[in-house]
Amino acid sequence: MNKNQKLAQWLELRIFYDAKARNLNVETSCQEYLQRHKNLKILDLGAGTGANCRYYFSKISQEQEWFLVEQNQELLEIAFDRLILWAQENRYESQLQNSRLVLKNQVHKITIHRIVASILDLENLIDLNTFDLAVANAVFDLFSEKQFQTLLECLKKYQLPMLATINYTGMNFIPPSDNDSYFIKYYHQHMQRHQYFGRGMGPECGSFMWEAMKGIGMKVLQGESPWEIRNSDSVFLEFILGFMEQSIPEIIQEATLQHELNTWLLEKQQIISQNKLSCNVAHQDFWGYWE
Ligand SMILES: C[S@@+](CC[C@H](N)C(=O)[O-])C[C@H]1O[C@@H](n2cnc3c(N)ncnc32)[C@H](O)[C@@H]1O
Repeated sequence: MNKNQKLAQWLELRIFYDAKARNLNVETSCQEYLQRHKNLKILDLGAGTGANCRYYFSKISQEQEWFLVEQNQELLEIAFDRLILWAQENRYESQLQNSRLVLKNQVHKITIHRIVASILDLENLIDLNTFDLAVANAVFDLFSEKQFQTLLECLKKYQLPMLATINYTGMNFIPPSDNDSYFIKYYHQHMQRHQYFGRGMGPECGSFMWEAMKGIGMKVLQGESPWEIRNSDSVFLEFILGFMEQSIPEIIQEATLQHELNTWLLEKQQIISQNKLSCNVAHQDFWGYWE
């Protein structure tokens, strides 16, 4: 399994928790706003393997045209395979025409396009005047403050509203152990390490997103969207530990710390194998629109 296939596997596993976590107040407010439109043209920013649009298909009654924007081409290819599978499972006909996928049943028509590009280049690639909504799931904790601000300025120019869900703000294990806060802190430091685009917002995205959306003149509704990972879900818990195991050594140099990390991971794995570890992961959802 290559890196993208592994990532695609993770994105599929998290659908269950994302669906349970999404803040219904925030979602309903967006749905009410969309009632005024006969057809909907929607951007899915950082679409990955298309989990976000698949979630919304049944929540929208109008004819839908989606544009999946994703910088990772292989993920977008997997997205189309999964959309075709979704169509079969939900009794839609699917037709692939060049880079466009059309899903139809007797009542609904959904058209999906893919754009391999950075979210921040969108304005140069398509006419944003024709869109009704942007959505993004689990994306903005990866963004720097500057990138998010640039995106907001673009949304403002085209008066595009945005529903941004599952933005990471923190985590804790149950039962807690002595070194949890220590290694969670390193995990956060890794999210906020210096990268070619600056520093990711990581767990601080919630407060910055709120201030920035307000600051640019959007009406904003915010709500919590926590994951509660059950102690029986060892596969999911192992994924989370796996991310920590991979990332933390990139920012710690001392051999003693690496040793402490290994010991901590081993303890956690033992508790997982006894089905005694659960984990809460905090997120925030935002609905921002223009009046
Ligand atoms: C955690 S995944 C979420 C994927 C999907 N939204 C979902 O809910 O399953 C974040 C995605 O955002 C994409 N991404 C991050 N920064 C991006 C950018 N500047 N332009 C386009 N895609 C980006 C990543 O490649 C990744 O696929």
